[in-house]
Amino acid sequence: MKIIGTGRMHPSKVVTNQMLEQFLDTSDEWIKERTGIAERRLISSEHLEDMAAEAARQAIEDANLTPADIDYIICSNVVNEYITPSLSCIIQGAIGAKCACVDVNAACSGFIYALDMADDRIRSGKAKNVLVLGAEEPTRMVDWSDRSTCVLFGDGAGAVVVTEGEGMLASRLTTVSKTDCLYYKRRLEPTPYITKEEEFGPMYMNGREVFKTAVLSSARDISTLLKQTGLQPSDIKYYVLHQANMRIIEAIASYLKLDMSYFPHNVDRCGNTSSASVALMLDELSRGGKLEKGDKILLSAFGAGFTTGAAIFEWTK
Ligand code: COA
Repeated sequence: MKIIGTGRMHPSKVVTNQMLEQFLDTSDEWIKERTGIAERRLISSEHLEDMAAEAARQAIEDANLTPADIDYIICSNVVNEYITPSLSCIIQGAIGAKCACVDVNAACSGFIYALDMADDRIRSGKAKNVLVLGAEEPTRMVDWSDRSTCVLFGDGAGAVVVTEGEGMLASRLTTVSKTDCLYYKRRLEPTPYITKEEEFGPMYMNGREVFKTAVLSSARDISTLLKQTGLQPSDIKYYVLHQANMRIIEAIASYLKLDMSYFPHNVDRCGNTSSASVALMLDELSRGGKLEKGDKILLSAFGAGFTTGAAIFEWTK
């Protein structure tokens, strides 16, 4: 398959580190030094499904298609206001498409899982044009009095349209069940019959453990894909990595012995937008005129699970 259109939508509310200093025991200096984040965009009056629908419309228009041409929608999402129906189903109605839809949750790696599923769908001949989204509001999972997590996240929605073609050169997905270092258990409605103890509360994260696992697993995925395709690290124009922490991106750059010009980033302006981050970055690159036909880009993400996803694309647009 190949990518033929991209789109993105950020929430309007910009929250700077200085704004967080007003109610948290934190500082602009600490946040910038440990994460590279200066500000993030947070949902305030918006609904995630509306933002996702707008990103979808942009991607479809960019692909020179209409919603009627889309024959499958896959939306990567961890949390939103609805448990059911799926976000993709709501997006389908909002944009006026008619196809089957499904959401996937592979945490921050989900957009790459969704792309891989779209590739399968296209290869099997069951779909021609697939709309793939990463739409996330991780800021609704964290405790806003916990400085170790709430400063890290931002919200957003990114979309691509993929179709039959020779753009995706390789992909790799991995999952290792390691559920104790990053999780969020939400409260379910009680029934008269529940007798078990149930825990719920905001997101728990062991930041150091996640940091180490993220660097090691992303470096491993990148090496594997480069080897598989016979490419050298410098043959890739851009490494579009999950935007969790600037220090994670710098550690991967140093592992590959490449300078930071290979690593576009938005974490400084958007925070960690979970599985939306790679999709947002792709649209920023494409609309910013940074990608030319024939460029090779490598996507790599990691997230709760622990999951990882990576893919190499040749830009064909
Ligand atoms: N402001 C000021 N101090 C803070 C702080 C904040 N926002 N958050 C934590 N601290 C403090 C801690 O309380 C700790 O203080 P102590 O030494 O007195 O106990 C100190 O800073 C160091 O904390 P530590 O957790 O060791 O910092 P770190 O260098 O590991 O950075 C993260 C913390 C969360 C930024 C970093 O571990 C990280 O980015 N991990 C990966 C997270 C991630 O990517 N998650 C999403 C995966 S999809």
